[in-house]
Amino acid sequence: MNPQELLRQLTLEEKAALCTGSDFWHTKAIERLGIPAAMVSDGPSGLRKQAGDADHLGINDSIKAVCFPSSAAVASSFDTALAERLGHILGRECQGENLAVLLGPGLNIKRSPLCGRNFEYYSEDPALAGQLGAALVNGLQAEGAGSCIKHFAANNQETDRMVSDSRVDERTLHEIYLAAFETVVKQAKPWSVMCAYNKINGTYCSENKQLLTDILRTRWSYRGLVMTDWGAVKDRAVGVAAGLDLEMPGGSDKGIREVIDAVHAGTLSMEELDKAVLNVLELVQKYLEGRRDGVTFDRAADYEAARRAAEECAVLLKNTGALPLTEGADVVLIGDFARAPRYQGGGSSHVNSTRVSTPYEAMADGMRWVRGYDVASDTPDSALQAEAVAAAGKAGAVVILAGLPDRYESEGYDRTTLEMPANQNALIAAVAAVQPNTVVVLYNGAPVTMPWLDDVNAVLEMYLAGDGVGEATMNLLYGRANPSGKLAETFPQKLSDTPAYLSYPGEDRASAYNEGVFVGYRYYDKKEMDVLFPFGYGLSYTTFAYSGLALDKAAMADTDALAVRFTVTNTGPRAGAEAAQVYVCPPPVTAKGRQRPVRELKAFAKVFLAPGESKTVTVNLTGRDFAYYEPILHDFYAETGEYTVAVGASSRDIRLQGAVTITASRPLPVVYDACSSIGEVMATPAGARALGSALQSLAAGAGGASLGDTGEDGVSKIFTGMLVGQLVSFGMLSQQQLDDLLAALNG
Ligand code: BGC
Repeated sequence: MNPQELLRQLTLEEKAALCTGSDFWHTKAIERLGIPAAMVSDGPSGLRKQAGDADHLGINDSIKAVCFPSSAAVASSFDTALAERLGHILGRECQGENLAVLLGPGLNIKRSPLCGRNFEYYSEDPALAGQLGAALVNGLQAEGAGSCIKHFAANNQETDRMVSDSRVDERTLHEIYLAAFETVVKQAKPWSVMCAYNKINGTYCSENKQLLTDILRTRWSYRGLVMTDWGAVKDRAVGVAAGLDLEMPGGSDKGIREVIDAVHAGTLSMEELDKAVLNVLELVQKYLEGRRDGVTFDRAADYEAARRAAEECAVLLKNTGALPLTEGADVVLIGDFARAPRYQGGGSSHVNSTRVSTPYEAMADGMRWVRGYDVASDTPDSALQAEAVAAAGKAGAVVILAGLPDRYESEGYDRTTLEMPANQNALIAAVAAVQPNTVVVLYNGAPVTMPWLDDVNAVLEMYLAGDGVGEATMNLLYGRANPSGKLAETFPQKLSDTPAYLSYPGEDRASAYNEGVFVGYRYYDKKEMDVLFPFGYGLSYTTFAYSGLALDKAAMADTDALAVRFTVTNTGPRAGAEAAQVYVCPPPVTAKGRQRPVRELKAFAKVFLAPGESKTVTVNLTGRDFAYYEPILHDFYAETGEYTVAVGASSRDIRLQGAVTITASRPLPVVYDACSSIGEVMATPAGARALGSALQSLAAGAGGASLGDTGEDGVSKIFTGMLVGQLVSFGMLSQQQLDDLLAALNG
């Protein structure tokens, strides 16, 4: 297939038609020219390939598939090798099912723990989301199937998701909300990008030229296809001109007619349309070139991979000795989730599982089950609770399966509380009161509060663990697998502590991102707040020591790279894996007065270690890792100064620190005008020469206590805060003198 040649042969009508899907899941075929349709399917926690004919809403049953841990869980692995492995598996499944593109992964940042879709997103941190996303896309596309990273961009809530305006400043957008997309675009070249439903600063993403062309294609050099989220088109022709190639789903010819009319009317040029058509044709070409016959979707093998992944993603949040459980010991398992575990989220990523292992089926010898609560209700059931408490009191240990029922979180709506159902909280408190070895296992897509935390012995966060949930839970509880996940998001103490609390989900169909770059741990650390569990935190059944931090240079230019080396040792009795984290701590405020986070994750490494074993880890940091986004430059900027490189087991458990001095290769441009302060101008040699005497006479004139008892220093501060232009009004400088001075300074 030759896209350029085909482009020449297509009629206007065919071009317009190609830029809209044919149905819910296919691009349009043009039989006259032998252009086939390509099929896309939801993901990335498994395939949601709709079986049979597509219905208008895409909600018919999908084929039986394997459900892997959701992205919230995958992120907790802090393991790019795991993400890449999942990508390969998904890619082979796509080949087996003749799918061109998997719609995922979702790269949106968890701005608030309330977002109903947080289970589908990786992290509150863009480096973690970006590096894991890139690994998954690389694995997937190595198998000849394409990814569609989504939802581009600033789609951080489900409330009003189709219309809400994300009002976010330029620095925050680039530093936090675009950064993961940027990493994946640059490191993994995804075949496609899905634009989000929402607006950014007043313009729908589907019509946002700045986003889809200036940033994505010009700044990041993206060469693939941009498709809409399903039904995100408002004005189709404006969208094409903005850089939106493919409208999904198809089904109506409204968009097609709009494009044809706009070309006839001259409001959309043929060149603009051709760009979109070429991107569609090139996607179909990639699909044809990537197709491999004879690949089968091996559901049994992929189930095993899903189970193993669930074990590698779980986070041990607390353990005062009850875990691991002893094989054969007398343990009571409590909870409705035993028979119907919550293992995936609701909405478009929902997989029709071939086989789910339930904790009930996976129970170990010596374990018996009581129900404890009704998952369909929030109200404590006194009979169920009393039965559980009676069984718990007599047991050696108790495991309560708790978390969020399906109705609590889903695509399409946000949570309004961090609380778990009241019946579950009441049950845990009642059981913990009679049983010192109470272990709570959590199945949820996002953080919850834990009013019973001090009273239980252990907490194991499984997130939404996929089809292998039951077996993985038991393997972790009994120490057949050693927990090694770390939190990819902060668990706050309460909802009102969260960074976006006062502006989430917003009002009048708009949400002001007032917290700026201070999202997740960047906020809690800057505000020196206590949290329930910090970002990057997680325990193991073994222990790890960090040693020997070495930075390969003490000073470097912002164009250079820094090698950070350190050693991790397994100092405990079991084999295990440690997710070591490398943070950069910048100066707290920039020269321009911009606040910077206390620390920012820049690199991480998952280190697998036998007891007593040590491994040396090396990660490379570049100038960009020290930079913030400077709005004056419209670019990232690593300011000259001393930075700390901090290596730790979590964002609040820093074990090693070193310092490096960065030198910026360009100064920040400063423009002086009549509104520059006298102090700013005085700080330059030319300014000091020109204004020295004027300032002296001002200070002399202010003698005595006429300005209050501020002292000489105070008087000087008052005057240096005044504007140079005011010296003309006060007759201390002529207009000509001021103009000459400003010209000299700006020249
Ligand atoms: C979701 C996308 C999904 C698409 C197709 C939309 O509603 O936002 O994530 O890929 O539907 O199902």
